[in-house]
Amino acid sequence: MHRGVFITFEGIDGSGKSTHLRLLASELRLRGYNLVTTREPGGTPLGARLRDLLLRGEEQVDPLAELLLYAADRAQHVRTLVRPALETGHIVLSDRYADATVAYQGAGRGFPSDLIADIVRIGTDGLMPDLTLVFDVSVAVAHARMRKRNGIEKEEDRFEREEVEFHTRVRDAYRQLAAQEPTRVRLIDASGSIEETHARVIEIVLPFLEENAAGEKAARSV
Ligand SMILES: Nc1ncnc2c1ncn2[C@@H]1O[C@H](COP(=O)(O)OP(=O)(O)O)[C@@H](O)[C@H]1O
Ligand SMILES: [Mg+2]
Repeated sequence: MHRGVFITFEGIDGSGKSTHLRLLASELRLRGYNLVTTREPGGTPLGARLRDLLLRGEEQVDPLAELLLYAADRAQHVRTLVRPALETGHIVLSDRYADATVAYQGAGRGFPSDLIADIVRIGTDGLMPDLTLVFDVSVAVAHARMRKRNGIEKEEDRFEREEVEFHTRVRDAYRQLAAQEPTRVRLIDASGSIEETHARVIEIVLPFLEENAAGEKAARSV
């Protein structure tokens, strides 16, 4: 059993994961928690190279190769970064983790759920999050936020029907995970303002840490 607390951030692209991880991290640091923030893919030096290959490569990545590369990234991440941080009493916040494989490679790409379950078990080395926040927003809103983030104005929109359907399957899979595991996986309505969503995050995370990480604040002399 680890001493720290492992919290993961999930949701479709543009749902607000990275924004809310940053906001929560500052809030928790102010409150004196020992924190490590990380992401998948790319939380380790090896992972950063895999991330580059997966997200920026010239070559079309075969879906099975993609599934296994994400698993390799996760194995390195868990064994060299996440578990050691938890064992030394840190709170670990990760931008994506195992549920992303279920949503993207399972529901999105269509790999069978027993294969996905095996790969997740192997890649995570059995380590599941203590708490998972799923940022839930429509595909249209998420897409509009990403266009804005990337500074795309009006020109041709390559977000075609196939992609809308893909991201809709991913979103639905996340919602299903929250329904199946309501204690670990908390669905957060992320359609409102950043402030509104941040307030929802705080409402869930602070009581959770009060219960599960009471001894994990940095020792502070006042
Ligand atoms: N509630 C919100 N309302 C409006 N814009 C938002 C909201 N949440 C995030 N954004 C913006 O949307 C974009 C995508 O958010 P981001 O946190 O990068 O999403 P993700 O990491 O899930 O892809 C960013 O430019 C961010 O500032
Ligand atoms: Mg992000």
